[in-house]
Amino acid sequence: MAEAVLVVLVSFLSLALLSFSQDPDLKSGSAYDELRTSGFPVGLLPTNVLTYSLNRTSGAFAVDLDDRCRVTLPPDNYLATYSRRITGKLADRRISDLDGIRVKAFFRWWSITGIRSTGDDLVFEVGVVSAKYPSRNFDESPDCEGRSPRKAAS
Ligand SMILES: *[C@@H]1O[C@H](CO)[C@@H](O)[C@H](O)[C@H]1NC(C)=O
Repeated sequence: MAEAVLVVLVSFLSLALLSFSQDPDLKSGSAYDELRTSGFPVGLLPTNVLTYSLNRTSGAFAVDLDDRCRVTLPPDNYLATYSRRITGKLADRRISDLDGIRVKAFFRWWSITGIRSTGDDLVFEVGVVSAKYPSRNFDESPDCEGRSPRKAAS
């Protein structure tokens, strides 16, 4: 009897461990956690983060996605693209030297060079120009568009 319970318990545990190690969200959780800790919403990064590194002395970071990514940003439906690798410097409520995120507006693509978090808003910087949006628009990480060719083919 006790043996049977043990067997069930062990198989349950190994199942739990298996799903833990295969969950991409858990594996890449730190990049999103790091954003939160620095006062940013997680929705600044898409859901397909693969790996992440941060130098805590300099704030220099690199985020690697599993592929390039395109999303539509609320509320004005701007198209944005993420390069496979996004780099920059992270400080409290401030991301600078950003490279790898571009937004299409006024018929051309602009590189977002910095993002600041001020109160309830995010300020996106494109060189010396900036645009302010409510942080709550970025509460959830967007899924990349046009992925999953298996789905599209069926
Ligand atoms: C982290 O940044 C500091 C300051 O810029 C630098 O001295 C150090 O070499 C960096 N560490 C790594 C692992 O790149």
